[in-house]
Amino acid sequence: NIEDNFQFILFGGTGDLAHNKIIPAFYNLAAKDILPDHYTIIATGRRYDNKNEYLNNLYSSIENKKEKIDNRTWQSLTDHIEYFQLSFKENNDFERLRKRLLQKSKEDKISNRIFYLATAPKFFAEIAKKLKEFNLLNAGFEHSDSRLVIEKPFGHDFESAKKLNNTLNDIFSEKNIFRIDHYLGKEMIQNIMVIRLSNPIFRALWNREHIDNIQIYLNESEGVKDRGKYYDDTGVIKDMFQNHILQVLSLIAMEEPANLSAQEISDKKVEVFKELADNDLSDIDKHIVRGQYDSNTVNGEKIKAYRQEKQINSESQTATFMALKLFLNNDRWRNVPIYLKSGKRLNKKEAAIAVEFKDNFHSSYLQNQKLDSNLLLIKIQPEEGVSLRFNTRKPASNNKIIPVKMEFCQSCQQFFNSPENYEGLIYDMIEGDKTLFTSWEEVSYSWKFIDKIQQKCEEENIELHNYPALSEGPEAADRLLEADGRKWLDKE
Ligand code: BG6
Repeated sequence: NIEDNFQFILFGGTGDLAHNKIIPAFYNLAAKDILPDHYTIIATGRRYDNKNEYLNNLYSSIENKKEKIDNRTWQSLTDHIEYFQLSFKENNDFERLRKRLLQKSKEDKISNRIFYLATAPKFFAEIAKKLKEFNLLNAGFEHSDSRLVIEKPFGHDFESAKKLNNTLNDIFSEKNIFRIDHYLGKEMIQNIMVIRLSNPIFRALWNREHIDNIQIYLNESEGVKDRGKYYDDTGVIKDMFQNHILQVLSLIAMEEPANLSAQEISDKKVEVFKELADNDLSDIDKHIVRGQYDSNTVNGEKIKAYRQEKQINSESQTATFMALKLFLNNDRWRNVPIYLKSGKRLNKKEAAIAVEFKDNFHSSYLQNQKLDSNLLLIKIQPEEGVSLRFNTRKPASNNKIIPVKMEFCQSCQQFFNSPENYEGLIYDMIEGDKTLFTSWEEVSYSWKFIDKIQQKCEEENIELHNYPALSEGPEAADRLLEADGRKWLDKE
């Protein structure tokens, strides 16, 4: 349970993220009865005139996600929500907010003040500066140890990220800056270290001697929806690779941490990001496949091409799909290919990590047949679980060997209800645990790596393959692996 009283000031309180993720996560925390007696969520925004109007909208959003809203939980949550009309441009609004924080702090003895920036990224620096200018950090709060939570994207390249970081560091210390990557809130991503480190059978084999290749795929079936303007400037490389995919990769590839402190884990992850950034990427252009979805008709329904979506340039060259092959040049992973893939409007939503083991079979079993490799699949979503493929004797056969799968489906368990990604993240930011947040070093090296790739794509003018919406993606991505005698394991 959270014991300390806190104030949670949500900028972008009327936006999508607040409605669909942040407040629903608070609802779940309230339902579990783990919030303290005194806490206040001050949701700021411009859209609504009063609290009732705001709460009605929140109610509908939460209702869309749940079968039924529990009235007692809703009542207890909304008793703690205040709606505060504020425009980022109005100094006077910040002044009013300071007064409100001061007054509220007198009523509740608070131990924590958290500012959450769930706004468009262009406002991040501006809001942070105003927090300082208008003395919101320590108004009525002696610790002056307020926390800042910041959504992605953190910059749009290394230079802009550095600039933003410098601005934030003038106001908050690194220990109080919580950079969100909501993938780190996912159950199976938090499970990666446990699977790796608490199972001697995997721990002993987690290296180039035994692992043939690693694949990480974050496939989406949705298009860009209403986020065209943001997405057309961003593309899959910055939207999914710079953050989510590289975070997953770092947990899979890092050296073993000496302990489980947030700092130690982050240090180990940083080594991976640093290696990526320092890698010789001179021929990476041969290992990249870029794609963009085209229109298609599926079951009689016409699906728009990316270029026909709202707010997208009709000649856009933005990639909505990317596949990448890379190597880490260290003792653990040298020469083990790592294949990464993500795309919008693919035929199914499916995210997983596939670890394929080497064909180190006893030669006696290879005489008359080809055996399947051992395969560990960590399923992130929609199904959460683990599957392990291994070989066994076909019953009543003459030593014929067949592959079988041992399946653990976490999300299939009865009464299983995976917590919202944001639920654990919010809990941790209130408790001050940074393990599931990204450090500046992680972010900075990941940008350096992505910048190099982006530059290469531009210099080499890497082809943009069209793929039909709701298909498996460009065929060129299959050829990338076929050239190595392999295939994507999401196509098995
Ligand atoms: C976000 C991206 O960070 O992650 C979106 O901006 C993407 O474009 C989303 O759709 C995917 O998250 P999830 O949790 O649905 O896999």
